[in-house]
Amino acid sequence: MNTVKTVLELRAAVARARGEGKRIAFVPTMGNLHEGHIALVEKAGQRADFVVASIFVNPLQFGPNEDLAKYPRTLLADQEKLVAAGCHLLFHPDVEEMYPNGMDGQTLVSVRGVSEGLCGGSRPGHFDGVATVVTKLFNMVQPDLAIFGEKDFQQLAVIRTLVRDLNMPIQIMGEATVRATDGLALSSRNGYLNEQQRASAPALYRTLNQLADAIRGGRRDFAQLESEGKAALSDAGFRPDYLEIREAGSLRPASTTDSQLVILGAAFMGATRLIDNLAFEL
Ligand code: PAJ
Repeated sequence: MNTVKTVLELRAAVARARGEGKRIAFVPTMGNLHEGHIALVEKAGQRADFVVASIFVNPLQFGPNEDLAKYPRTLLADQEKLVAAGCHLLFHPDVEEMYPNGMDGQTLVSVRGVSEGLCGGSRPGHFDGVATVVTKLFNMVQPDLAIFGEKDFQQLAVIRTLVRDLNMPIQIMGEATVRATDGLALSSRNGYLNEQQRASAPALYRTLNQLADAIRGGRRDFAQLESEGKAALSDAGFRPDYLEIREAGSLRPASTTDSQLVILGAAFMGATRLIDNLAFEL
């Protein structure tokens, strides 16, 4: 696996693969790779001939009081995992390469609708930062296919909308959330949890399942279910940020006639903000 740091080198390597007639898949990440990321890379290898991954901790998607500075950077271990997963090319730019003119004057890509509320409500500007960096990365790599995790359900919806609205000729694939055996969704941010917090954290996914079971059992009092879920999260030691039942395709608030639902939750365990979701069909 080759690691390149500049757009020029990236384009040259991708052009070589294209010249050989290869189909190109792309997996963008912020690094500190775990099995969730690796599942995306392996999927990419099944769907394409040449797999490009990126590792870039994108300052544009972090709020002023978020964890940009302490976000874990583990390049060597990440490279080993990518090699083992069959990645062919790693793009690992620094901030100056991605934002040579700084971020203040940077063109922003803003996806309306699906980016509003949920994480977009709690993290103002976050999805503009995501949509902007993903647009830049897509233009740099120009893949046939890009793979994202369903763990970040709203992000995946934002990317699908972006690609559709801006006519990008890129197929977007979602990949199921990879979890620890106790149900906790794998996340780079799990590393911030102490032992006791880590032991309590599976309550987030457990709560989503309890709500889904209640809905499958016939309940449709969504607002009441949401407040019961938040109470359960508080009892488990979380400080709930949001817990919402939405229609899975549009992310609009669920109505009693919807059949594709998703329950999305974000909650703080100490200073660590965890997110998870559960999509299901009625
Ligand atoms: P990051 O949090 O590093 O995640 C990179 C990709 O891995 C995303 O598509 C995310 O949904 C997926 N992922 C994370 N945890 C997962 C899990 N447990 N199971 C399956 N997939 C998982 O998401 C980002 O980076 C950034 O916002 C990015 C898209 C790279 C733009 O900067």
